[in-house]
Amino acid sequence: MRLANKKILLGVSGSIAAYKAPDLVRRLRAEGAEVEVVLTRAGAEFITALTLQAVSGRRVHARHLDPEDETVMGHIELARWADLVLIAPASAHLIAKLAAGLADDLLSTLCLASTAPLALAPAMNRAMWEHPATRVNVATLERRGVRLFGPGIGDQACGETGAGRMLEPEELTALTAGLFAAGPLRGVSVVVTAGPTREPIDPVRFVSNRSSGKMGYALADAAAAAGARVTLISGPVAQPLAAGVRRIEVATAEEMRRCALEQAGCDIFIAAAAVADHRPRYPAPRKLKKDAVPAALELERTPDIVGEVAALPAAPFMVGFAAETDDLARNAMAKLRAKGLDMVVANLVGREGTGFESDDNEVTLFWDGGKAELPRAPKRELGRDIIGYIAERYHAQGAAQDP
Ligand code: C5P
Repeated sequence: MRLANKKILLGVSGSIAAYKAPDLVRRLRAEGAEVEVVLTRAGAEFITALTLQAVSGRRVHARHLDPEDETVMGHIELARWADLVLIAPASAHLIAKLAAGLADDLLSTLCLASTAPLALAPAMNRAMWEHPATRVNVATLERRGVRLFGPGIGDQACGETGAGRMLEPEELTALTAGLFAAGPLRGVSVVVTAGPTREPIDPVRFVSNRSSGKMGYALADAAAAAGARVTLISGPVAQPLAAGVRRIEVATAEEMRRCALEQAGCDIFIAAAAVADHRPRYPAPRKLKKDAVPAALELERTPDIVGEVAALPAAPFMVGFAAETDDLARNAMAKLRAKGLDMVVANLVGREGTGFESDDNEVTLFWDGGKAELPRAPKRELGRDIIGYIAERYHAQGAAQDP
């Protein structure tokens, strides 16, 4: 029972995905949660209050400032009651209202009146999800600490395929339980960079490297499992994404840099990406004919992303990677100092079965005044161990800085 005695205010807004809400209520209750349902007017076009009442075992709140409702549990009381406000499905319209801080019906009023964490499971047509207005609204809410569960990618009720599908009740229940899980990074925001970058020669050719992104994805997964809010800034890789991790896809070092700076308000920044060190100085705007490709490409250095984030005035706890061929300790400590990092994850490259594309790795962690050697293990397992050390050092540093 992962949600024993947790009080969840479930908002159901107007989307076809509202038909999944009764299943969600049942699953949340099966995990021990108490669920009060608030149904918006548009939500009631898709699912009846009677159905939700039957599965929640409680009267459904549907009307704003309803005299009868206010005597049972007033709207402010309801807002205070909740340990979590979860809105599933969250329509584009509702997201826009929350971003603007409107309070013109019961659900939006409760969101404004409640100090409980707010989680949204968006559900809408692909084009609506991708619309610049929705992008801005979602970004605004995320900046305020609102948690986004999904949306998923796949077939939609409208016949289209893409991002906008509400996650399944089972996934939503797991993500909700994750919010209450007592991991070492609970309430901490983590950004992970992963994968290679691609530096264009022209629109179809690029310079890159063989990074698979496995280590970065394993770290993002492990950080989420430890309770963190995770944003993964990923170069082009084909890795499965763990539930609860928000991914932003980028291609070039410059895109990764811009995105990293935007996300630098996080608590912990883990630079696991194998950023291309060089890029063509003069990428061609159009595809070059075979014979027009120069025999020698003029290259320039890419920006040092981790160094730039570490140099910010309120830099997060910074973790960088170092792949060294010799003298691991000395080179790793030099990198720690040069880039202003709090921890370096170092490995000796060139060993059979570890490193770039393999499933295993073997690393040593260095920080000011300590180190830890982690023996060869699958990257997933190693990811959990590394996150364990990062959490420990992050909290130790916070404790040292607190008066
Ligand atoms: O300097 P070096 O490439 O060895 O440093 C590796 C570390 O720096 C890794 O954490 C990598 O993600 C990060 N890095 C970066 N931007 C670059 C190059 C490396 O953030 N342009």
